[in-house]
Amino acid sequence: MKPLARLHRAALPDTINSHLGFGHLERVYRVMMMPFCKGMVSVALHDGEVVGGVSASAVSNMLTSIVVDPEYRRMGIGRLLVNAVDDFFRAKRTGTYFVETRIANESAQAFYHRLGFTEIGRNRRDVTLRREVP
Ligand SMILES: CC(C)(COP(=O)(O)OP(=O)(O)OC[C@H]1O[C@@H](n2cnc3c(N)ncnc32)[C@H](O)[C@@H]1OP(=O)(O)O)[C@@H](O)C(=O)NCCC(=O)NCCS
Repeated sequence: MKPLARLHRAALPDTINSHLGFGHLERVYRVMMMPFCKGMVSVALHDGEVVGGVSASAVSNMLTSIVVDPEYRRMGIGRLLVNAVDDFFRAKRTGTYFVETRIANESAQAFYHRLGFTEIGRNRRDVTLRREVP
């Protein structure tokens, strides 16, 4: 979980989990794997190095984080990670899941829209999007 926590903190420094520090962020990913979270964490590897990762929870039905190393973006890794989340929810017989992102994070919104997520609401800071599991 350490390499994924490192990627997360570098890519998303302005989130509560990143503000709480590296150790906290690593624990968040570990907790996702505990049974009560009904979660998943999946990583993308290149030459044995973690270059991306995603997490989701079947308690909240949310994709809780996704990050790709800046050097490996726009190569289809994010799409593969979303496919892994689709597989997870399909196995749980969950037809719909959600993700929240900052309004200011326009590239994440472009990514989610490109993959077929639909915006369902926003507040002053965040956009919520929904995905029907294909
Ligand atoms: C969002 C993120 C995970 C996308 O990962 P990625 O590996 O670059 O995405 P992919 O290469 O699989 O892109 C999938 C599609 O989204 C589109 N897309 C990806 N990034 C985009 C961007 N910045 N602007 C516009 N479209 C984008 C791609 O064009 C691609 O469409 P295509 O297959 O038709 O070409 C990555 O940019 C990232 O880690 N960002 C920082 C962390 C973050 O913001 N996470 C989300 C917080 S909720």
